[in-house]
Amino acid sequence: MKASPPAAAEFAGEGGKERSRKQSHMPPKEIAVGPMILLGAPGAGKGTQAKMISGRYGIPQISTGDLLRDNVGRGTELGKQAKVVMERGELVSDDLVCGMVTERLQQADCARGFILDGFPRTTGQAEWLDRLLAGMAYAGRTMAPVVISIQVGYNQLLQRLTGRRTCPADGKIYNIYFQPPQTDGKCDACGAVLVQRRDDAEDVISERLKSYERQTLPVADYYRKLGRLHDVDGDRAADLVNADVLRLIEGPAVLAGNG
Ligand code: AP5
Repeated sequence: MKASPPAAAEFAGEGGKERSRKQSHMPPKEIAVGPMILLGAPGAGKGTQAKMISGRYGIPQISTGDLLRDNVGRGTELGKQAKVVMERGELVSDDLVCGMVTERLQQADCARGFILDGFPRTTGQAEWLDRLLAGMAYAGRTMAPVVISIQVGYNQLLQRLTGRRTCPADGKIYNIYFQPPQTDGKCDACGAVLVQRRDDAEDVISERLKSYERQTLPVADYYRKLGRLHDVDGDRAADLVNADVLRLIEGPAVLAGNG
């Protein structure tokens, strides 16, 4: 993808600190959160954190993995092209994924902001996204993305991925080692039988981790150079990780019981 990104200084939007200072008096579900980007290896907890953020602010989680799996499930043309690539643990082409994201970001529920989970995943996607976001506003304000990289050690990642189970009905995420359902194999909320993702098989996991190191780690460097990256220690319980993430969005007041 040959998109040329705007330089950091040209991104005329509020940063995380500025937006939290201006909106610190508001209830979470009225805050214009703007764009949030969650980076991290497969299994780092991007989906888990995105669901927690989405629940607090009432903004959508946009997971490119979920959108692709939905297309695969419905047998669309895009899904047919993506299926083979995903089953190998490789990345789907930038063109397909960027087209899908453009369509999703035009929907009305993105008006106060959104959480990108699993996107961008290549520097080409990051450059493309910068151009797209530079033209967007949230409740009338322009905002630079808050980019959070969730760091987790290799052995913990393996256990999280092999132990993951998902509810096919409501998307709730469990883990047989760390966050088991109350009844074995069933969703706590709706009782549906939990499923294991096809790409959580051990041979595919190792390919996914290789793709991550080769193609997605440079995305963190891209944002670091622009001064937008925040590292969060993801090797802790999900609610502790979430407290750090919320602090980055709202500032220290969130810990003092504001909202
Ligand atoms: P995608 O669905 O995005 O998968 P991923 O990035 O590999 O990430 P995961 O969903 O596996 O992990 P996660 O970080 O969300 O962790 P989770 O919260 O579930 O992508 C799948 C495929 O689609 C890719 O391989 C690629 O082919 C394609 N694709 C997607 N986006 C693309 C793009 N932009 N470009 C090109 N191709 C793309 O947690 C994992 C487990 O750990 C769960 O069981 C959870 O309960 C547990 N857990 C979470 N947090 C904690 C914690 N703090 N402590 C203990 N356990 C925890």
